[in-house]
This record gives sequence, structure tokens and C-alpha cells, in this order.
Amino acid sequence: MIGIFDSGVGGMTVARAVEKLLPSCPQIYFGDLARTPYGSKSPETILRYSVQNMEFLLSRGAKLIIIACNSAASVASDELGKLFDVPIFEVISPAVRRAVAATGTGRIGVIGTRATIKTGAYDKEIAGLDSDKRVFSQACPLLVPLVEEGWLNKRETKMILRRYLYPLKLKQVDTLVLGCTHYPLLKKLIQPRIGSRVTIIDSSEEVAFALKKFLDANRQLKNSLSSEGENKYYVSDVTETAKSIAKRIFGREIELLSA
Ligand code: DGL
Repeated sequence: MIGIFDSGVGGMTVARAVEKLLPSCPQIYFGDLARTPYGSKSPETILRYSVQNMEFLLSRGAKLIIIACNSAASVASDELGKLFDVPIFEVISPAVRRAVAATGTGRIGVIGTRATIKTGAYDKEIAGLDSDKRVFSQACPLLVPLVEEGWLNKRETKMILRRYLYPLKLKQVDTLVLGCTHYPLLKKLIQPRIGSRVTIIDSSEEVAFALKKFLDANRQLKNSLSSEGENKYYVSDVTETAKSIAKRIFGREIELLSA
């Protein structure tokens, strides 16, 4: 199975993107709802939780892992790669590759949680690919709670977005990376506020493309993943809010199993 973990159910944007591209490969998802959010926690805590999440997924038969949570990917992916001997995908590198290819002016904006922006993970990854690119980052701590409340089309959400995006607009970015699981749900509000000419990169879609490419080149692994049963979505706390976010992301009822 394809193992996917996140701090909660926002990472289902990744699960959904993977399901669309690889419908024959079953997934096992773990959302750490009992300990969410990760975006405001220290790197040590995020790493400790991430190790436990990996162990859970591997013990349930995952053969490869996607770190869907940008906060976990930005602080823990290198360490997890050293600790576990399975292919690990994370949301940052594929989005960065796409952003570097997409920008015309070389001015790239990144939005994410405080934890993600503080690590400078996107900046480092972009600099590693092309040191001529300029990166402008903005932490947007209020967006996750707004999405979790379902405030996807409220005046207040639009106002807060305008406030967060304004500095990036001033910097005239031509490409904007959505560096958080929850932001794809705000894409329609973000586009007009950052500008219709700005290319928006959705890290959930990009990691799904990267995984598909990898599995197309590793047929044996893909075939072994394909014969393994149904998608399962585990969470460390089952809540009504989580159920409604999951439904919004998948466009259908999702059964959340208690882990
Ligand atoms: N999953 C987190 C991320 O992508 C957002 C929610 C949280 O802070 O835990 O950064």
C-alpha cells in the first residue's frame, strides 16, 4: 500500500491527488488529529511524531511513504530518510521543481505554516536547483484554522488572504507555491488576490505526479502495490470537523478509522 501521513486530514488533498493519478494503488492514510497542528510545534516534536507515524504505516503494510504534511516534510524528511529503508516522497521537492521550471521572472513566492517557513526548506531547495531564483516566503498561520472551520468563502478569509498575499504581490512574484496541505482548498480565493497571471503550484498535485513517474519506472513495485485491497483512512482522533473536511476534499463520504 501507499502510506501517507499528515498532521490531520488536510493531507487528504495529497491522498486525493494520488488516487486520481494512481487509482489502482491502494492507500493507507494516517492523520494525527489528536496532536494537530504540527505547524506551530518545534522541529524536535514534529520529528518525533513523524517517526511514530511512519512506524504505524509501515506496521500496517505500507511499502512506500508520502509525507503529505509540509511542516513534517520541512523539518523531518532528511532524518526519516536515514531512519527508514523505504522510498519516501515528500511534498516540497516536486513543488519546487515545478516552480523553478514555471517561473519566467525568477521571483517565486511560498506560503506555508510558521514551522515550514521558519525552516527555510523551500528556500534551500530552490537555491539548490537554481541559485539565481529569488524566493519570498510568507507564513500564514490563520489559514489552517479558517479552512478547518469551513470558512472557504467568507469575507474574513478573503480579507486575511489579501493581507498575507500583499507582501508577495509587492515583490512581484510570478509563481506561488502552496506550501501547506490546506491551501489547495483556498486556491480559488488565492488566485484573484495574488493576480491572475501568477502561476499557482499545488504541492499535493506535484507529489502525486512525482510518485506516478517513479512507479511507472518501477513496475514491479507498482504491481505489488496494486494487488493489495482497499483504501484505509486512519486518524488518531475521530472528529466531526475532520469528517466534513475529508468529505469536502474527496467529494464523498470518507470513513475515518480510529488508530
Ligand atoms: N499539515 C500541515 C502542513 O501542511 C498544516 C496543518 C498543521 O499545522 O498541522 O504544514
